[in-house]
Amino acid sequence: MFKGVLFDLDGVITDTAEYHYQAWKKLGAEIGVTIDRHFNEQLKGVSREDSLARLLAHGGVEANFSETEKAELAARKNEYYVEMIQNVTPQDIYPGITELLTALKQAGIKCSLASASKNGPFLLKKMELFDTFDAIADPAKVAHGKPAPDIFILAAKEVGLDPAECIGIEDARAGIEAIIKSGAQPVGVGKPEVLGDTIPLVSSTEFLTFDYLTQIWTK
Ligand code: BG6
Ligand code: MG
Repeated sequence: MFKGVLFDLDGVITDTAEYHYQAWKKLGAEIGVTIDRHFNEQLKGVSREDSLARLLAHGGVEANFSETEKAELAARKNEYYVEMIQNVTPQDIYPGITELLTALKQAGIKCSLASASKNGPFLLKKMELFDTFDAIADPAKVAHGKPAPDIFILAAKEVGLDPAECIGIEDARAGIEAIIKSGAQPVGVGKPEVLGDTIPLVSSTEFLTFDYLTQIWTK
């Protein structure tokens, strides 16, 4: 039986993946880079700085900005994003997530956050989930962002576990890659076209029940 569940946040616990997209789209429009939802899949799960690098490369405008200007662009995107998440409430938690967290707690299974977002603690507080999590891995403390496994390894460590004892839940391709490399068992929320067809997938978080996790646990 697994002893911990390592949760991504944006796109797994709530719909903030959409706000990240809207904020990048707004910033892109200001610097002449157009992005669409297809391109956005490449930004999901990826750190703020890496996302900016990908956006600039996508527009072929990397050379137009100094490091200082890039830092300003990343900060500006975050301002847009932070403005958008001010009104997040517990009502915004995706279907089934609260029930899953309750069931895991009752079963004595640790819940740890493995989000790349520096806004994770703020969002958990807004959704009144901050105390439900046993740990929040700090993305500022890891050397490499997703698709590297670092944040999942840290999230497991923070609750005293090895990733091999845990299930990781992700909506992003980079995140699934990170879970697999960490040694945790992946579950994807999304479509096989995006996440591949080699791991268990649910089309919606409402199917992420405790029973489902016990069924897909293969160790
Ligand atoms: C991830 C998101 O969870 O966090 C990415 O999927 C985002 O889209 C990354 O870029 C970093 O988030 P933040 O809030 O620190 O800019
Ligand atoms: Mg995500």
